[in-house]
Amino acid sequence: MKGMILAGGLGTRLRPMTRVTNKHLLPVYDRPMVYYPIECLVNAGITEIMIVTGEENAGDFIKLLRDGSELGITRLEYAFQVGEGGIADALKLGRHFVGDDKVCVILGDNIIEGNIKQAADDFRKQASGAKILLKEVPDPHRFGVVEFDGDEVVNIIEKPKDPPSNMAVTGLYMYDSDVFSICDQQRPSDRGELEITDVNNEYLKRGTLTSALLEGWWTDAGTIDSLLRATNMVAESGANKMNTNA
Ligand code: DAU
Repeated sequence: MKGMILAGGLGTRLRPMTRVTNKHLLPVYDRPMVYYPIECLVNAGITEIMIVTGEENAGDFIKLLRDGSELGITRLEYAFQVGEGGIADALKLGRHFVGDDKVCVILGDNIIEGNIKQAADDFRKQASGAKILLKEVPDPHRFGVVEFDGDEVVNIIEKPKDPPSNMAVTGLYMYDSDVFSICDQQRPSDRGELEITDVNNEYLKRGTLTSALLEGWWTDAGTIDSLLRATNMVAESGANKMNTNA
């Protein structure tokens, strides 16, 4: 299974810092934000990774990460997303990199305490389809949110005003290679983006979407408050410590 880290977008919720650098290069405690999704993939045995970045400061990723070997990456590719067309638009750039393989996608501003090794192993065995990782949160209106019928996921709603549950869809997704044709079929949402939630709902409609609960804490780091929370959580737990030799 290949890995993709989506680190494009303009990071407008972190201005003014993101006027001069890319959001995913900002520090979270003792390391740049993008190190955390890299560690998450490498810990799950996924060492062939594509990083999608965008307009601002794209070259700085190469300066920071070089060939990725210091972080355990065996093959590192970069893709450039023009504009900010959404998560599913960024994902499309992995088509040739992923080929017929499966792909584990992590949003570059998502930070987790634990690891996704079990979920990745389960998805390697899943014949086809997709897998999402869920986490109960106090503020579901900020996320993609799952609607249940009993234990069964029946719908996913992006940033609902009136959330049907407290179960957020985290920014860690696993897909078969059909994901690229599914992304091609999507139309921009009201916010002008190709939404990953629409992609996940398509898999749900096909009956091939599985889900698992993410263990340990999880946070995004895309707003001032969540960046502070991420920094404090990493500092307090000592989680995600890795030997970077950097
Ligand atoms: O954090 C999990 C949430 O992430 C999910 O629950 C939502 O369903 C999903 O839509 C997403 O919500 P956000 O509104 O928080 O996503 P955001 O626009 O902040 O983008 C998250 C990351 O995706 C960002 O750090 C970089 C990448 N991205 C985003 C856009 C819009 C790109 O690479 N390209 C893009 O065009």
